[in-house]
Formats: sequence, structure tokens, C-alpha cells
Amino acid sequence: MELVRITTPLLEWYDKNARVLAWRDDPSPYRVWLSEIMLQQTRVEAAKPYYDRFLETLPTIQALAEADEDVLLKLWEGLGYYNRVRNMQKAAKIVMEEYGGILPKEYDKLLALPGIGVYSAGAISSIAYNEPVPAVDGNVLRVISRIKASYDNISSPAVMKAMGKEIQEILPKRVGAFNQALMELGAMICLPNGQPKCEQCPVNKICQAYEKGIQNELPVKEKKQQRKKENKTVLLMMCKEKVAVRKRGEKGLLAKMWEYPWLEEKLSMTQCRKLLCEQGACIENMKSAGAAKHIFTHIEWNMTGYLIQVEKSWGDFVWMDWEQVVEQCAIPSAFSSYHEALKEYFKTS
Ligand code: ADE
Repeated sequence: MELVRITTPLLEWYDKNARVLAWRDDPSPYRVWLSEIMLQQTRVEAAKPYYDRFLETLPTIQALAEADEDVLLKLWEGLGYYNRVRNMQKAAKIVMEEYGGILPKEYDKLLALPGIGVYSAGAISSIAYNEPVPAVDGNVLRVISRIKASYDNISSPAVMKAMGKEIQEILPKRVGAFNQALMELGAMICLPNGQPKCEQCPVNKICQAYEKGIQNELPVKEKKQQRKKENKTVLLMMCKEKVAVRKRGEKGLLAKMWEYPWLEEKLSMTQCRKLLCEQGACIENMKSAGAAKHIFTHIEWNMTGYLIQVEKSWGDFVWMDWEQVVEQCAIPSAFSSYHEALKEYFKTS
């Protein structure tokens, strides 16, 4: 499917159907900037009165730069995310100092300003200056996923970036209109949650999801699971040729595998020595085996390890000949750097 085929029908549709919005009548940079920041958190209809009042009170970037913070916050009251307007003021001050009060047109310069991210930089640069850059928001990700019948996960930054690149390659001359047409299609026709109005869509003859009847399955949006972080102190305890190991429980993560004993938190060498002595260990020698990290699907282990020589075996561990550990015990790769440290120790000792 050639994505470029959507440009003409989409622009024709946009020219006839675009909502009349204050920043579209006069897409000067300051107005576009304000609208894009407001629309990140608010629907178009709800933003309108805020937008008009804001511009009446602070009609220029200079006025914004010089405004009292109380005035700013009052103008934003009810919109939430107050850092957005604070960042706008910080950016306005920079624009006054560095760009003579005029927002730069270059994407990279916009991106460097406080509160302007990849999407806003693309939107301002293309809508206000017609610079050839994409502006990919959630609407656009949905529209393009459906047109391409793509099951790629749109929460993934790599997928977002790839879509931006694809759009970049098909941008017509009227960049600002095209970027807004994609957003407008997402907002008016290509609706989420099982509501798309495919019969009215200007690109339904090109849309692969429509052809396959899978428009309601798309886009795929899977938030990365937040991993639980666990800190551990791994004890590589040796007594002559033997090493302390223990078997993990019958159920759960790494069930029934062998492991080196560990403690529930990250301890310094001194803390670790003290704790082990209190529990009955007679430590001859102790040195660091370094830090290691292992990432499981839902958990992340942040480990610190110590090589510890003890005078006699102690505690309820299995004290096993090193040869036997190597030959018979399944030790999870989470411990591999410590396993290697022990290998090294027994090779040289
Ligand atoms: N959402 C955010 N910016 C928009 C724009 N310029 N047009 C339509 N929807 C939008």
C-alpha cells in the first residue's frame, strides 16, 4: 500500500470539512503554539474559551514573557497541568532574549525550548511556518495504523518514530494543512473505541483496516509494564573447596533452580560483614564482586555481590563442592556475573 495515495483525498476533504478554529483563521506562530499546548490536555471545544481569554489578556509573546505568575495561573485555572503554562512563560523569555520575540521556525530550535516536545515542535513548525516536518499525535498514530492495517504497538517510541518518518516521506506542499488534516480525520471520522465512521472517510478506499474489517482492533496500544525493582546483596561464600548455595522454592520466579544466597537489600561491605557475623559467620576475608543487574519480564534485580571466605560452613545453606555446583546445579543467568567471579576465584586459588 502506498501511503502517499492518501494526500490528495485527505486534503480535499480537509478543505471542505475542517472545523473553523481561531488558530486556523490566523495561524501565526504564537497562536499556534498556544493552541497546541492547550490541546494537549483539553478537547477543542473546551479549550476555545480559555484560548480566547488568554490571547485577549496576553496578546503577544512579550506580554506572556512579562506576565505576573498569578495572572498566568488564573488564565490556566481549570485546565490543569500548570507546568505547561509556566514552561510557556520560560520559553517566551528565551524567545524574547534569543530570537527577538519571534518563535523560530526550525524544528530543532523549537524542540530545545521548555515545554515543547517532539509533537509540539512538529506542529508549530509545520502549521505556522509550513516547514516539512510531521506532527504525530495520538490521532495520527491511530489513523496511520488503520490505513496500514498495522498491529505495531503505538506506545513504543520506536514505532512512533518510524511513523513520523513515513509521514515525512509523503508530506505534500501544504504541510501544515496536511498534518492538521490527519489530526482532524482522527478527531472527526477515524474515532477510537469502536466508533470509526468509515462510510464517511475520504480515504476508505485506501484503508487496509477497512478492507479487512479490522478497524476496531487497531491501533494496538500496550503500555510497557512497570517493572518492580528489587535490591539484593548476593553472598558468594566459600569454605575451602565448597560454596554456599540454596534451592529456590517450588513455585514462582525461577522455581526449583539453584542460587547463591542473597539478602533483601543492598548492603555495604561493612553492613554485610556485621550482619553475617551476627548470624554466626566467621569471616576470614571479604571483597567486592561488583554490581549486576538482571531484567525479568516483571521484575528487575539490582544486585551487589561479595566474595566471602569463611572459616567453617554455617547457616542453613547447602555447602557444595565447587565442581559439583558447576556440573549439577542449574544457576539462573541472573547470577551469571557472580558465577563467573567464582569460576575465576577457583581457577586462581
Ligand atoms: N489537536 C491538536 N492540535 C490540533 C490541530 N491543529 N488540529 C486538530 N486537532 C488538533
